[in-house]
Order: sequence, then structure tokens, then C-alpha cells
Amino acid sequence: VKILIIAGARPNFMKIAPIMHAMRRSPKLEPILVHTGQHYDVKMSDTFFDELNIPRPDISLEVGSDTHARQVAKIMERFEPVCDEQKPQAILVVGDVNSTMACSIVAAKKEIKIIHVEAGIRSRDRSMPEEINRMVTDAITDILMPPSRDAVDNLLAEGHAPEKIHLVGNIMIDTLLASKDLINKSEILKTLSLQAGNFVSLTLHRPSNVDNMDNFRKILAALEVIQQELPIVFPIHPRTRKMISEFGLEDYVASMKNLILTDPLGYFDFGKLISASRFVLTDSGGIQEETTVYGIPCITLRENTERPVTVWEGTNELAGCDTETIIALARQILDGNWKKGRIPELWDGAATGRIIRILEEVL
Ligand code: UD1
Repeated sequence: VKILIIAGARPNFMKIAPIMHAMRRSPKLEPILVHTGQHYDVKMSDTFFDELNIPRPDISLEVGSDTHARQVAKIMERFEPVCDEQKPQAILVVGDVNSTMACSIVAAKKEIKIIHVEAGIRSRDRSMPEEINRMVTDAITDILMPPSRDAVDNLLAEGHAPEKIHLVGNIMIDTLLASKDLINKSEILKTLSLQAGNFVSLTLHRPSNVDNMDNFRKILAALEVIQQELPIVFPIHPRTRKMISEFGLEDYVASMKNLILTDPLGYFDFGKLISASRFVLTDSGGIQEETTVYGIPCITLRENTERPVTVWEGTNELAGCDTETIIALARQILDGNWKKGRIPELWDGAATGRIIRILEEVL
């Protein structure tokens, strides 16, 4: 059974890695890897392919960055002939980036089966581009593979037939657990002169936080206070770097002597960094999950989350971008007053096996 596996942006790569490896071993499934080129910088893409031993893409669409409409249109335009040439029985998409939705729409119109891994998660915030991508993708997906029970419930509430829904667990955690030794061996603490437990890690790239000057400034004001207590390591996303310069915030950022900016890190270095942090500040989706698995306190710089289980069961709390709220939560962690959290059901490193078994059965 020929399946096109779609990858486009950084958070896709750690999700497709174990699926590619397992499918190549399957006697029944034939994976063809398609990279849309949504992310194209070496540090946003190639590094992850090398580290996670992902085979070179069979097909590259090389779409690059653009407005949302143009990026989605370009992916669709370039993916359509690939479907015509390859004639796959199915495509497999992961996550919620523009590439996920764009390729799903093309496949649906060609009556090619769609498999969505990480289906059903919802923030219920339609100002977030990913929420639109999630809703559209799931609406036309044939085989829905949610990571958690709340995601199953969302899909049932939207009227999806229970037979289409397969709770497989969290694929990203498969990669995290499989990479434990290499993450432990990372020298990143030495490179950045950090001591385990004595620094904070930060990631920031959501348009709602960094494309809006007021919100960005509110977050920076909180960082200014926190970095007086502990160094903050900030591997910076290309979008965020661009906005710092567009808003003329370089001097303000540079004035924070304990805010350490680095280029985006590779998978192992970043894993080591967050697992050795006192706490993590982030507006990412996946990092809310990874901190829960590591048992590291996480303050999420968003008003809502599509991954509520990380708040209910894990180590995560939502702070939005309000300066005082962020500082108060950071204080609480520094005072030793934070929940311990536990690892959610089926975030056990065995999601890939469940995915492959289901696909071998139903395709
Ligand atoms: C995308 C995803 C987001 C995910 C994030 C992880 C969508 C809607 N968003 O957001 O869900 O959390 O990836 O990183 O799909 N750029 C580069 N080099 C690159 C890629 C991007 O310089 O390799 C710059 C460009 O200026 C580009 C900007 O970053 O315009 C934004 O890139 P884009 O892919 O549109 O969205 P992300 O913010 O990366």
C-alpha cells in the first residue's frame, strides 16, 4: 500500500521520524516522503533529518515562506501533480501546520484516503492559524488518530463516526523516549556555560505574541524581571528574530544581560536544554507536552491550549502574555510551589506500533 508521508515544518519532523522508520520495515506499507519546504533553513529542517535519521525526502515541493493563502495555494498546486504521478492509496499528515491542511485538501478532492496523526486537539481559538488547519484537516480525514482522550471527545462531539477514531497516543513522545541517550549526551550545557537546574529556557514564535508589538513588549517586560534571578536561554525562531528588528527592539533585548539568545537548536540539544531547565517559558504546542514528560514546570505564554491534558495532568500552566501573571507564576516555581504532574495515558513511546498495526489492518 503506497502512502505519501507529508512533512513541512519543524514540529512535523520528530513526528514523522518513527513512522518512516516503522513503515520501511512493514511488509505491507510503502512510504514515500514528501517535504513541502515550508521550513527550509538548515537549522529548521535538515538538522532534524540528520539527527533523527529520516531518509532524504523522495519529493521536495520547495514552497518556502509566504502569506498563509499563497503558501497554502503553492503547496496545493505543487502537491496535485505528485498525487497524479504517484497514485498513492493514502496520505499521512501530522500536526497542524499549513502543509498538513494544504495536502489534505488536495488528497480529499482526489478521493485519496487521509490519515491524520494528532487529530482532534482543539484550542477553540480561531484566531490561531493552526486551529483552522486542525478543523479543516479533521473534517476531511478518513482515519483519525488522536493523541489523548480529550481529543477523542472533541472528534465525537463534532460528529465523527467512532469507527474512524483510533486513540493511538502521542507520537512525539516516541521520538523523545527513543532519543533519551543522545539527548543526555548533548554538550549544550557546557557550550552555553549553564548549570543543570539553574537556568530558564524560552521559546517564542506565535504570531499573536511576536507580530503584535504590545503583546511582545509585555512578555519582554516579564523576561526583564525573571532574568535578574536566573539566566534565560532563548533559541530564537526566524520569525521572532525578524520581528525584534522590525519593531526596533534590539537594544531593549540586548540590554537584558542574562537573556542568552542562540540560533534554533537541534533536537538533542534542545531536549537536553529543557530537561535540565529550572522551568520553561514557551508558546509552542509540542514543548508543553515534552515538559510534562520530563516533569519540568512549564509556563505557556498563551491564553488557551489545544493540549489541556498538560494542564490537567502535567506540569503546565497558562499565563497569556500578561507581565504580572508571568512573573507571579515564575515566582511560584522559584518558591518550590508547583504541581509535580504525571505522564498522560498512552504517552508511552509505543504510539508508532499502534499506528502501524491499525494501518496494516484497515488499509
Ligand atoms: C509554523 C507553523 C506553526 C509551528 C511553527 C514551528 C503554520 C501556520 N505555522 O509557524 O504551527 O508552531 O511552524 O516552527 O503552519 N522562516 C525562515 N526560515 C524557515 C522558515 C521560516 O526564515 O525555514 C521565517 C520566514 O520569515 C517566514 C516566517 O519564518 O515568513 C514564518 O514561517 P512560517 O512557516 O510561515 O510559520 P512559522 O511561524 O514558522
